[in-house]
Amino acid sequence: MNLKDKLQNKIFSIVGQTADFHEVEVFVIGGWVRDIFLNRASDDIDFAVHGSGIELAKNVSKKFKGSKFSFFKNFGTAMVSAKIDGKEYKLEFVGTRKESYRRNSRKPIVEDGSIADDQNRRDFTINALAINLNSNHFGELIDPFNGIKDIENKIIRTPLEPAITFSDDPLRMVRAIRFACQLNFEIEENTFEALKSQNSRIEIVSQERITDEINKILMSKKPSKGFILLEKSGILKKILPELTELKGVETIGKDSHKDNFYHTLQVVDNISEHTENLWLRWAALLHDIAKPATKKYIKKVGWTFHGHEFFGAKMVPKIFLKMKLPSHEEMHYVEKLVNLHLRPISLVEDKVTDSAVRRLLFEAGNDIDDLMTLCHADITSKNEKKVNKFHKNFEIVKQKLIEIEEHDKLRNWQPPISGEIIIDTFNIRPSKEVGDIKNHIREAILDGKLENDFNSAYQFMLKIGNEMGLIAKKEK
Ligand code: CTP
Repeated sequence: MNLKDKLQNKIFSIVGQTADFHEVEVFVIGGWVRDIFLNRASDDIDFAVHGSGIELAKNVSKKFKGSKFSFFKNFGTAMVSAKIDGKEYKLEFVGTRKESYRRNSRKPIVEDGSIADDQNRRDFTINALAINLNSNHFGELIDPFNGIKDIENKIIRTPLEPAITFSDDPLRMVRAIRFACQLNFEIEENTFEALKSQNSRIEIVSQERITDEINKILMSKKPSKGFILLEKSGILKKILPELTELKGVETIGKDSHKDNFYHTLQVVDNISEHTENLWLRWAALLHDIAKPATKKYIKKVGWTFHGHEFFGAKMVPKIFLKMKLPSHEEMHYVEKLVNLHLRPISLVEDKVTDSAVRRLLFEAGNDIDDLMTLCHADITSKNEKKVNKFHKNFEIVKQKLIEIEEHDKLRNWQPPISGEIIIDTFNIRPSKEVGDIKNHIREAILDGKLENDFNSAYQFMLKIGNEMGLIAKKEK
């Protein structure tokens, strides 16, 4: 197969001609080649050089004005970042090698090899495709493992015996699942068997690399596929056992609860149709995480998971720490959403009072829309009638939220009387009393007993202060 028409970007002719001049062989290889057959565009292009990758990269860099060149001598890799026809490209050059290839490897390269050796040690047949760029073979595809056929048949398969490919870099087991999920491919049987039998080897891989792949699975169109494969391969139990704990249905008498693993995945798929926000997807993944820990069977009531939202929120920091996910804003956001995830729907089940809606708006703040998205995604049931009823009630709460927000503007609300005003008015030190008065004012406004304006709140503050034995300055 000749792919000249896919190589019209001048990058390829310049790289090829430079390699010709310096008498080295060069190939475009890996993800970029795979992606042309999948109609996915990528600005990251990998080149394999039979010769010095660093030297070629340096010479290529000279051809692109304003480009940046960097290299890692020990690893034999070099990067050129260049703006070409108004677009930013990252070009990575690496010498062909006999050893396993992976980006960001900390292992120095010791053995040079041919392009065939290099392709042998790549992760999957679809990632081992290479195209020659030298002028006498420009555009010729080298596909020793029928990667093109695997792309057509939507198959993830290792080029060598899977046990060998995976032992080169056990992260590839999770990568297999990530590609299957992202591309909606199937993992070939032998490859999947090796994944199952070698799953414990994932323990030697750094958490950052694993988490990177999990995030990519979560950002796929249908993340459930990835998590089901992770579970079936036994890998999920090694990396996020809290999720596998959700699996299973228990029955007592006629009462069964739903399988919370599959329910969770359904919620993640639902939410993925509505958001590209990774952290909202994490909130969906963890929203019921404390169900196993809070599960109880109560006669005449059935299965309960009382307080799972509260305990779930408490589990979030531990999980984030273990997964090496960010520990600030993003974590607090997920914690908050897990904690509040039942609130909108519980408003429906009780009676939708204005004060309950006000409280929810106050607590959720700017995240109220995301909370509603999560809550909507959480409505999963096989019983269509039930789902319809929930959706209808959900719309009622949504409407009510809009009305109250329009009227009270509680989204980013701060009570009208600050601590400083209280301190100044009663001429007291910062103390518990100040907090008590502030709480009284906030609660009265949220309950609808007090108008949300400065004058009403000020009068109310004087009254509460007096009741506590405090005397306002003017009165003194
Ligand atoms: N590769 C490998 N083994 C790994 C990682 C990468 O063999 N553990 C090889 C594959 O040939 C892969 C190439 O290095 O195609 C580039 O890796 P990377 O940039 O991580 O992945 P891409 O295939 O480009 O895909 P994506 O951009 O979606 O991560």
